[in-house]
Amino acid sequence: MICVAQIGCGYWGPNLLRNLVANSQCRVKSLCDLAAERRKYVSGLYPAIDVTDDCQSVLADPEIDAVVIATPVFTHYDLAMRALGQGKHILVEKPMAGTVEEVEHIRDLAREKGLIAMVGHTFLYNPAVRFLKKLVSSGQLGNIRYIYSQRLNLGRIRSDVDVLWNLGPHDISIIQYLLDDVSPLAVQRQGMDYIQKGIEDTVFLNILYPGKVMAHVHVSWLDPQKVRRMTVVGEKKMVVYDDMAENKIAIFDKGIDRMAVLGENMDYDTHAFPTFTHRSGDLIMPRVNFQEPLKVEIQHFMDCIRGDAACLTDANHALGVVNILNTNTHIRKMIP
Ligand SMILES: NC(=O)c1ccc[n+]([C@@H]2O[C@H](COP(=O)([O-])OP(=O)(O)OC[C@H]3O[C@@H](n4cnc5c(N)ncnc54)[C@H](O)[C@@H]3O)[C@@H](O)[C@H]2O)c1
Repeated sequence: MICVAQIGCGYWGPNLLRNLVANSQCRVKSLCDLAAERRKYVSGLYPAIDVTDDCQSVLADPEIDAVVIATPVFTHYDLAMRALGQGKHILVEKPMAGTVEEVEHIRDLAREKGLIAMVGHTFLYNPAVRFLKKLVSSGQLGNIRYIYSQRLNLGRIRSDVDVLWNLGPHDISIIQYLLDDVSPLAVQRQGMDYIQKGIEDTVFLNILYPGKVMAHVHVSWLDPQKVRRMTVVGEKKMVVYDDMAENKIAIFDKGIDRMAVLGENMDYDTHAFPTFTHRSGDLIMPRVNFQEPLKVEIQHFMDCIRGDAACLTDANHALGVVNILNTNTHIRKMIP
């Protein structure tokens, strides 16, 4: 049995706690939250879990092997470093920390101590995303040309982070995963603070990867419809992953092919006016068996601690995501 403590049980924490309690390979010993009302909530649901507002006592408890951190982003670095310092494995909610340097420190300390430092990029434990990754890796789509995603809603407005730091980690981690965590060549964000001054609620992010691969992420708390959709355009086929749909993956055998001209070389080096055919073949919507991503994520954390799996969302993956989130290349605002 892996003995676990959780720090933070606000909006998202209860989902983690439920999955930890349900996992047969761990025992949740304690829960720390600064808010009395949240501790009361946990005690009511799980009387066997010790609740406290004193993180230090939890981190210093020699019985505890691993700590799950589900507090606001600005607290992640301090709590993660203290937990690692006390020899605990950590699962930190996304994003792992606020700067690239902080994630590097977490990665280095975990490495030095031989501990797992995992980030909760939940979508990488979503069977539909795993299916999409297999499609990309199999080469069925051909070379990836561009990917764009939308994560929109009339949202739950936060004040501690902007919309990119709140919702963007999901899309960026999926895109990085699909592209084998390759480093981007350029990142540019354009956002606007319509609701709260200084906190952008709508962001358009453009990422350029090697090999002419483009990605675009649109996140907003200010949109009439709830949308969670990603489109992957490949040379041979195109895929739409719609997390709100019953059939989450749709594979389109569509593309534009260049027609060969008689006498032309393989590399189309003719000056003749090119002709194209529009290929519009089958639409396939494969069945993807759903499993709660958090259940898979928690099991993966246990497997990593036992040494049975290599961590999919380790600090290196977290670093790639925070590196993109941290871009300071803003399109200059023309509006004062
Ligand atoms: N993976 C996902 O899909 C997903 C979804 C939502 C939120 N999150 C992430 O989960 C984390 C928490 O978000 P949330 O929406 O639950 O926030 P929240 O503000 O609703 O809850 C945070 C809780 O942490 C407690 N807390 C704050 N500082 C603390 C400290 N130093 N020690 C102990 N407790 C402390 C607060 O009292 C609160 O109960 C964030 O990193 C967020 O990005 C992830």
